[in-house]
Amino acid sequence: MYVCLCKGITDSQLRAAVAEGNTEFRDLKQELGVGAQCGKCIPVALAILAEENAKAQLYYEVA
Ligand code: FES
Repeated sequence: MYVCLCKGITDSQLRAAVAEGNTEFRDLKQELGVGAQCGKCIPVALAILAEENAKAQLYYEVA
């Protein structure tokens, strides 16, 4: 699903970028440009970022 219409960024792209180590919003903004224009995608991008960081945290706690 498209998260950022201004830059054409999907949730899959965001999740992949987080998995590659972009664990802060500023990293995603720099890497993909998410939220760099109108900013309407920022709340959804932050939710996806939090979800992916929580998954990674669970992984490290179990491993
Ligand atoms: Fe992402 Fe506009 S929808 S900057």
